[in-house]
Amino acid sequence: AEQTFIMIKPDGVQRGLVGEIISRFEKKGFFLKGLKLISVDRSFAERHYSDLSAKPFFSGLVDYIISGPVVAMVWEGKNVVTTGRKIIGATNPAESAPGTIRGDFAIDIGRSLCNRNVIHGSDSVESGRKEIALWFPEGPVAWSSSVHPWIYEN
Ligand code: GTP
Ligand code: MG
Repeated sequence: AEQTFIMIKPDGVQRGLVGEIISRFEKKGFFLKGLKLISVDRSFAERHYSDLSAKPFFSGLVDYIISGPVVAMVWEGKNVVTTGRKIIGATNPAESAPGTIRGDFAIDIGRSLCNRNVIHGSDSVESGRKEIALWFPEGPVAWSSSVHPWIYEN
């Protein structure tokens, strides 16, 4: 089944949104396959965001990600990459719809030094694979939920 990498960013952890965010993914019908609270260093954060290294906000983004612990997760389910991004909402909280995580819990992304938008989600199945390999070198946990048939057609 499709998997994605979801990270609750330092602002989400500091603000006590971990339970709320996990709950939203669980209630939707996705399955948690990896979970850890972790502080990463600069070189690790730079690897995670290597695609954005040319952006003017890159160093601010890295500073933000290393400013406190994050919650790294693997979630699994049908279309979890695309649907997960919908649950998260638009990058800029000023544009994310109410009902989305960023729309409900974030206000200001910041100019260049801050990028507080609570959560990250992989933008494709392929980047999900890369990010899961980076954050979970030990691999996700293999298990299947007994309620699967109550949520999924097959
Ligand atoms: P992620 O799920 O975190 O990858 O966000 P995204 O896919 O919605 O956006 P993108 O990958 O383009 O950018 C990664 C992160 O960089 C964003 O989540 C923001 O934290 C930050 N960021 C993106 N664009 C801007 C910007 O224009 N200004 C600032 N300050 N930060 C930005
Ligand atoms: Mg992105």
